[in-house]
Amino acid sequence: APSGLLAGKHVIVTSGPTHEPIDPVRYIANRSSGKQGHAIAKAAAEAGARVTLISGPVDLPDPKGVTTVHVESAREMLTAVEKALPADIGVFAAAVADWRVANAGEQKIKKKDGALPNLSLTENPDILATISRLTQNRPALMVGFAAETENVIEHAKQKLAKKGCDLILANDVSPATGVMGGESNTVHLVTKSGVETWPTLSKTEVAGRLIAHVGALIGDAKP
Ligand code: C5P
Repeated sequence: APSGLLAGKHVIVTSGPTHEPIDPVRYIANRSSGKQGHAIAKAAAEAGARVTLISGPVDLPDPKGVTTVHVESAREMLTAVEKALPADIGVFAAAVADWRVANAGEQKIKKKDGALPNLSLTENPDILATISRLTQNRPALMVGFAAETENVIEHAKQKLAKKGCDLILANDVSPATGVMGGESNTVHLVTKSGVETWPTLSKTEVAGRLIAHVGALIGDAKP
């Protein structure tokens, strides 16, 4: 049997962006690299957990010792997460698109002289909130991320309440920080009981520290 802080636990991690189709060849995306989510999946596996990583399209290899499920859209990501349940811990690091194209074309939309395509947007499911609010099958510990460009901690506290998760890792992603796609992260760990600000760390170090924290919380919950 595996040993380590998270031995015997199942951890679900979401990572990367989602791609929301406009038509079969075009999509809406965002600048998430998946580096932080993938590092968390790896750290959880190294701590002895069984890990299911649900990844949007990224340029990263599947982490060793982790079951990786590849998805494209937010709705596919939600379905994959639901399929991976039950789990002890959920870490939702994916940058899920807030909107998708409601009237996505089944065929490539053709360019017409003088006429612009009319794309209408509709809201995607909030995966973190959906899973955090499950009455059956909710992982004991749900971790979300909040990427903010201002009032980082205040927004994270609001997000904690709104989504119903237990812990938010809030990071400042204003362009000057270079966090999006970069190697390091300055995060604040926000819970109902307070805020802990971590020094600027590599994404691997953030992952290790998060897993240590989560392992201690889960350990305390043991009978
Ligand atoms: O609302 P916002 O996108 O800032 O929330 C960020 C957190 O919520 C992240 O943990 C992200 O993975 C999760 N999220 C989600 N599904 C969405 C939007 C965000 O799981 N549709």
